[in-house]
Amino acid sequence: MSTQAKPLSPAVAPPPRPAASFDVEAVRRDFPILFQQVNGKPLVYLDNAATSQKPRQVIEAVSRYYERDNANVHRGVHALSGRATDAFEHGRATAQRFLNAASASEIVFVRGTTEAINLVAQSYGRVHLEAGDEVLISAMEHHSNIVPWQMLCEEKRAVLRVIPITDRGELRMDEYERLLSRKTRLVAIAHISNALGTLNPVREIVALAHDAGAVVLVDGAQAAPRMKLDVQELDCDFYAFSCHKAYGPMGIGVLYGKAALLDAMPPYQGGGDMIASVTFEKTVYNKLPHKFEAGTPNVAGAVALDAALLYLERLGLERIAAHEDELLAYATDTVSAIPGVQLIGTAPRKSGVLSFVMENIHPHDIGTILDQEGIAIRTGHHCAQPVMSRFGIPATARASFGLYNTREEIDALARGIERVREVFA
Ligand code: ALA
Repeated sequence: MSTQAKPLSPAVAPPPRPAASFDVEAVRRDFPILFQQVNGKPLVYLDNAATSQKPRQVIEAVSRYYERDNANVHRGVHALSGRATDAFEHGRATAQRFLNAASASEIVFVRGTTEAINLVAQSYGRVHLEAGDEVLISAMEHHSNIVPWQMLCEEKRAVLRVIPITDRGELRMDEYERLLSRKTRLVAIAHISNALGTLNPVREIVALAHDAGAVVLVDGAQAAPRMKLDVQELDCDFYAFSCHKAYGPMGIGVLYGKAALLDAMPPYQGGGDMIASVTFEKTVYNKLPHKFEAGTPNVAGAVALDAALLYLERLGLERIAAHEDELLAYATDTVSAIPGVQLIGTAPRKSGVLSFVMENIHPHDIGTILDQEGIAIRTGHHCAQPVMSRFGIPATARASFGLYNTREEIDALARGIERVREVFA
């Protein structure tokens, strides 16, 4: 059941002017969840690379949508369906502005980064790869930017090649240039590594790939919440991010793709909304981006994504980046000064993430003791087992920062790590 999709809404207003200053205490008041005790201690939430907390602006946007506007989109002539469609497409237009994409038709709503990468692998990859072709990824990728390419390469008898990283967790650009060849069809790379925090030189990576005739997909899961993005400036062919790491809900994300590439790609899934017409003999597919959005979409998710991206823009991505960079520098100095602590990932250009190990103490024990102190971090392989292998460790403890974290919380983390030392002394 589907009707022809409504035309995309016109571009939304220019980005709002950021607030005059970054007042972290005022920002914190937007996040109700932060004001609670865990194990009798004030919550210190340092697991933002796994998922971020949500401001009331996002929570209220979802409530408002369900209280007033909920209906299916692109399908009805009634008022609620029109409102729901407008709200959904407004979310897309905001995502276009957020990424500085040339057109809203280049913004495909997906469940998250993982689905975005699978879409490109299954749609673009299956058409463009032949036996002997190569896909290039790096040694610092998340499993979601490894496994879809492995599956594709297996099916097409293509070859997956891996750009090595240095002991500090930087990409070996010399090796990247050496690995690029006329056989390279696609390069898939994290903008910021979720396990190490390394910020990769995406523009340079894209330029080199294009010179070799390859397209580039950027996994922006960790970058979208913490830096100003401009896909036209990066000149990447595909860019993926998840809303839940960017202060919105789980279950929605964005795949950006250059229109010419998306246009030439076959659909990813079949169903309602992705068609212009259907007979038993032939289906004509819908135009972009609806061709890639089969079935009832996550409308409330798009409404929340709209609110979350607007929230980030109002605070100002440059200010958020400056605040988090300052926190990371402070945390790096404070935590690395603790005896027995070793940082994993010490690239000069890093963002948002502090991974570490402690002599003779398993990361899970670090995480458990910190939890007793009310401090939430992630421990384990962070869905990046090859990174752990590269450093010869089973796991790390990882503190990851968000726009609401404070220096006092870093001090609490340091006291918590001292407590871990005492327990294991
Ligand atoms: N990819 C998320 C993380 O790094 C889940 O924790």
